[in-house]
Amino acid sequence: MFVKSLSGRFLLLTIIFVMLAEVLIFVPSVARFREDYLQERLERGQIASLALLATPNDMVEPALEAELLENAGVLNIVLRRDEMRELILSMPMPATVDKDYDLRGASAWTLIHDVFETMIGDGERVIRVIGAPVKGAGLLIEVAMDERPLRAAIIDYGLRILTLSAVISITTAILLFLAVRLFVVRPIDRLVGQIKAYGDAPEDARRIIQPQAGVTELFEAETALQSMQGQLSQSLRQKQRLAALGSAVSKISHDLRNILTTAQLLADRMEVSEDPRVQKSAPKLVNSITRAVNLCENTLSFGKAEESAPVITEFSMKHLLNDIVESELLAVGDVPISITSQVEGDVQMAADQEQIYRVVSNLVRNARQVLESRPEGGKIRLTGAQEPDAWLVTVQDDGPGLPAKALDNLFKPFQGSVRQGGSGLGLAIAAELVNGHGGKLEVLETTPEGTVFRVCLPKDSPS
Ligand SMILES: Nc1ncnc2c1ncn2[C@@H]1O[C@H](COP(=O)(O)OP(=O)(O)OP(=O)(O)O)[C@@H](O)[C@H]1O
Ligand SMILES: [Mg+2]
Repeated sequence: MFVKSLSGRFLLLTIIFVMLAEVLIFVPSVARFREDYLQERLERGQIASLALLATPNDMVEPALEAELLENAGVLNIVLRRDEMRELILSMPMPATVDKDYDLRGASAWTLIHDVFETMIGDGERVIRVIGAPVKGAGLLIEVAMDERPLRAAIIDYGLRILTLSAVISITTAILLFLAVRLFVVRPIDRLVGQIKAYGDAPEDARRIIQPQAGVTELFEAETALQSMQGQLSQSLRQKQRLAALGSAVSKISHDLRNILTTAQLLADRMEVSEDPRVQKSAPKLVNSITRAVNLCENTLSFGKAEESAPVITEFSMKHLLNDIVESELLAVGDVPISITSQVEGDVQMAADQEQIYRVVSNLVRNARQVLESRPEGGKIRLTGAQEPDAWLVTVQDDGPGLPAKALDNLFKPFQGSVRQGGSGLGLAIAAELVNGHGGKLEVLETTPEGTVFRVCLPKDSPS
């Protein structure tokens, strides 16, 4: 809508403000006009009355008296020269006066009040105006006159002022409107158009804005936008390169895993070789290949991790933790490691069972791998519980705590591993799977006496 646009608002507000200013000018102007009008009548009356000075007894012929009064535009005149002497010109039938107005020392408010009284009235009154004679020609002068011509003159003057105000306000508004369009609205339109064009293809560096605005504030906005778009385009290009690299890596990992699986089969056969030297090196080869296959698989699953949304089913928390404990116990070697789980009551969870299995077993496997690296081994304890609005699983061990590198790069892919053969993906994938459930994976505690990880999954699904 036009009124809602910047230029529309400007047009409307300018008209309103100029009109308001004109009204403020109008009121004192008409009051002043009336005062001048009456003052002029007094002066004319004074001049007319001076004709009497030329006569011996301050009297003139009635015909001349009527002519003098008519020329002065009044009904009668009284000029008091001093305490003793008055000059009087009057009609044969003096009119009855309806209202007296004394101009001597009248305040601005009185004058404003009186002019409105005249305008509102019907103009049928006879008024007497009292003032001081000019050039000290006497003590006081008063004239009686019809109000009608006064009222007509005031209204005519008022209408002229109003017409002028309207012309001035409309001209000013139109000029301001055009100026605002030229200096503000057009540059803003250009800016908005540019932002839209850039949004369509942010990788196209040619679409970055070139500051042109003449108005300082808009020029600054364009400059800030230019620098932001520059940075955005650059990081977008970088991200695109990384994405391309990522997809290349996952293709390589995929093919490499297949090649390595074949190599694994061949290495397995080498274990049953007759040659003792081959037999001796075979387990090392199998281990290395297994690690390489794991790395490929982890990389591939990380590439896919973001795509798979959790498939929610109901299952028993106790069973899940038992399964994890059992399969991890199978992997425990010669070092003494105990893995136990405990769940209060029969807690039913609603989540993606497969994904939560991977999360918790990743945490348990990390703890087991750390404990296995020292001769005294250790204990791993899984605890399951539920709160009114969340399910909680904690994995606690009495190992040496997270190393600084792992802690600094917690949940960042490929960066936190300190384990030989570790890819640094386990915790990153686990955190991502938990986030996918709207939950949180956190380290509650990590000291040289042990580490506690906690998985917290909210019960209510977002609506
Ligand atoms: N319970 C723990 N106690 C001590 N250190 C831990 C524990 N859990 C993880 N870490 C450390 O954090 C590092 C990162 O773990 P993460 O699971 O992300 O990678 P990784 O185990 O090295 O490799 P993978 O991708 O095969 O899991 C590990 O290398 C390990 O040093
Ligand atoms: Mg791990």
